[in-house]
Amino acid sequence: MTAARACSIAVDGRFREEILAGLARPQKELPPKLFYDAAGAALFERICELDEYYLTRAELSILRTHAAEIADHVGPGAALVEYGSGAGVKVRLLLDAMSAPAAYVPVDISREQLVDVVGVLAREYRHVSIRPVCADYTLPLTIPDLPRRARRLGFFPGSTIGNFHPAEAAAFLRRVRRVLGRDGAFVIGIDRRKSPRVVRAAYDDRHGVTAAFNLNALRRLNREFEADFDLEAFAHRARWNGRVGRVEMHLQSLSSQTFRVAGEHFTMKQGETIWTESSYKYDVDRLRRLVIDGGFRIAQLWTDVKQLFWVALLQVT
Ligand code: TRP
Repeated sequence: MTAARACSIAVDGRFREEILAGLARPQKELPPKLFYDAAGAALFERICELDEYYLTRAELSILRTHAAEIADHVGPGAALVEYGSGAGVKVRLLLDAMSAPAAYVPVDISREQLVDVVGVLAREYRHVSIRPVCADYTLPLTIPDLPRRARRLGFFPGSTIGNFHPAEAAAFLRRVRRVLGRDGAFVIGIDRRKSPRVVRAAYDDRHGVTAAFNLNALRRLNREFEADFDLEAFAHRARWNGRVGRVEMHLQSLSSQTFRVAGEHFTMKQGETIWTESSYKYDVDRLRRLVIDGGFRIAQLWTDVKQLFWVALLQVT
C-alpha cells in the first residue's frame, strides 16, 4: 500500500461504506478515524493541553521516568515503530534514550501532520533513518523494509488502545505482534479506571475544545462526503458507562431532523445520538487479560505519582 493511496481515505470506497453502514444502525455510529483530518489533529493537540485532560501529562511523566529502562530492555540498534505518531512529542523521549536506533517508522492517518512532524524530526535526529507510513493502522499494515536483524520496538501511546472495544484491542495486539516478530517489545499507554467525575471532565472540558473536536467529524462529512449536517443541531455528550468501564462520546440531535450523506438520507429523533468514540479505562485484571489475549506478557507496568495512567512494556510471548 503506497502512502498516497492509504491516505486518500476520503475517496476510498471502503471508508464511505463504513460511514454509511454505521449511520444505518439502530444506534448510529461513526468511525473515530474520521476525527483526524488536519483540523481535527490540531484540535486534538489542544485537548492534550487542557487542564482536564490529565492523560497526556501523566503519560509523559511516566515516559520521562522510565525511558532509559525501555531503551535498556530493547538494547542498541532497535527499530522503533509508532502507531499514531500525532504531534511527535512523546517519541522524542524514546529516541533520546535509545542507543543508535536503526530506524523510526511513524504510522499516522493524518497526512499533513505526518509530513510536518517528519520534517522536524529528520532535522533533529539526523542519525536516525525515518520512514513514515501514512495509513489506517486499524487495517492490516505493511511496514517498509526495516533493517532485517534489528529488534523491533512498537510504541502505542495516548491510551489509544482504549479506543478499541476489548475484542478488537486483542486482535490489534495480535496483528502488531506479527509486525514486531519473536523478540519484539511493545510500549503502550493505558488510562486507568478512576472516578467517573475525573474521567468525564477529561472528555467534556469547560472550554468546549472536546465538543469542537467531536463536531469536527460532521464538518468533515459535509466537506468530503457530500453531507448537509447542521452543526448547530447537534451537541457533544460524554457519558460514563460503568458496566463496561468506558466513556462514550456522542453527538446528540437537538431536534427531529433529516440529513444526507453520500447520496443517502437519514432521520434522527430529538435526543437520539450518533456514537463517535469510546475510551475504555482499564483495571489491572482486564489489562492482564487483554495482553494475554493479544499474545504478549507484561514485562513492566509503570504508573505516575497520582496513579492516573499506565505505561506497560510488553514482550511478545
Ligand atoms: N485516545 C484518546 C482518548 O481516548 C482520544 C480522545 C481524547 C478523544 N479525547 C477525545 C476521542 C474526545 C474523542 C473525543 O483519550
